[in-house]
Amino acid sequence: MRFINHMRLQFDARPENESFARVAISAFTVHLNPTLDVLSDLRTAVSEAVTNAIVHAYGEKGGQIILEAAIREDALLLLSVRDYGCGIENIDRAMQPFFTTQPEKERSGMGFSVMQSFMDSVQVTSSPGEGTCVQMEKKLLATAPQQ
Ligand SMILES: Nc1ncnc2c1ncn2[C@@H]1O[C@H](COP(=O)(O)OP(=O)(O)OP(=O)(O)O)[C@@H](O)[C@H]1O
Ligand SMILES: [Mg+2]
Repeated sequence: MRFINHMRLQFDARPENESFARVAISAFTVHLNPTLDVLSDLRTAVSEAVTNAIVHAYGEKGGQIILEAAIREDALLLLSVRDYGCGIENIDRAMQPFFTTQPEKERSGMGFSVMQSFMDSVQVTSSPGEGTCVQMEKKLLATAPQQ
């Protein structure tokens, strides 16, 4: 199926860029007139993935995050958040509800669960020492947009 739009953003892994990423994904999709609920789900999922890249992948030393999104002609949004940080050793364990490697920082271990509940699909690929890519999909509209 054809893609009608695509974007790729690269930005520093800094806490202030979590809101930048949220605004960017809203601005990229809003022309299709998704419901406020869909927009809010997207913003939350992007925010969780970007926060993970900031706090877990890079920590103090920082690095780069790449946010990529594409809209297919049937209004499916494909989204990816990529980092080149520490990577995840055991992805299945990391994705379990309440699993966190930062309990001392009062993290709840619910980020991946939130992404899974707000998006239609979430797939994680990761290599220790090389980084992580979180790929997500969500249908933006119940019916295909008029073109
Ligand atoms: N991009 C990443 N790079 C390295 N490790 C990651 C990354 N994303 C997630 N993780 C690992 O997966 C665990 C679970 O992530 P998840 O977002 O579900 O919970 P959390 O970030 O620990 O807590 P919360 O999101 O509730 O604040 C993290 O504690 C971390 O160990
Ligand atoms: Mg998290």
